[in-house]
Amino acid sequence: MLSAISHMPVDKQEFRRVLGHFAAGVTIVTTVDEDGKPYGLTATAFTSVSLEPPLVLVCVDKRSESHPHFHTSGVFAVNFLAVDHEHLSRRFAVSGGEKFGDLAVRSGTTGAPVLVDALGYLECRTIEVVEGGDHTIFLGQVEAGDAREGEPLVYFRGAYRKIS
Ligand SMILES: Cc1cc2nc3c(=O)[nH]c(=O)nc-3n(C[C@H](O)[C@H](O)[C@H](O)COP(=O)(O)O)c2cc1C
Repeated sequence: MLSAISHMPVDKQEFRRVLGHFAAGVTIVTTVDEDGKPYGLTATAFTSVSLEPPLVLVCVDKRSESHPHFHTSGVFAVNFLAVDHEHLSRRFAVSGGEKFGDLAVRSGTTGAPVLVDALGYLECRTIEVVEGGDHTIFLGQVEAGDAREGEPLVYFRGAYRKIS
């Protein structure tokens, strides 16, 4: 019974611990402000949603600096990190500051920054915004994307991992 489950009290720390056992690929989700300034954050809360039409979603913390710009721009790009991108994941997991610096990015078809060296990327236009507790769920229609050979960066139980 779903209602019985949803009313079970879940301790926040325990919730985090259990979630940590779900191995996730690491992404940097990017967008731009009204002046074209790039914003981005490390995110594992990414999933594919639909093949026809091609839809994906990302969940963005309402307290993050990037958050308002996802609303105003209406576009985002999801950049899949490769195994040698741990330093980028760490950089983009610190709030604010000049994250892009020397990073090789290009503007892409939507205007959201695409990491030139990403293992894969999807350029999206937001078609729906859904409240998700302390996060906002941005549902995006994929307008472009590509991927290259390489190994992914994986996050599992609070640590960066590689496959094999
Ligand atoms: C492995 C990992 C996964 C994360 N996943 C998410 C996520 O899915 N959504 C999110 O909003 N923040 C996530 N974060 C936290 C953001 O990266 C962090 O809050 C970041 O500082 C926000 O940047 P900003 O405030 O400059 O926008 C994650 C952090 C790490 C280390």
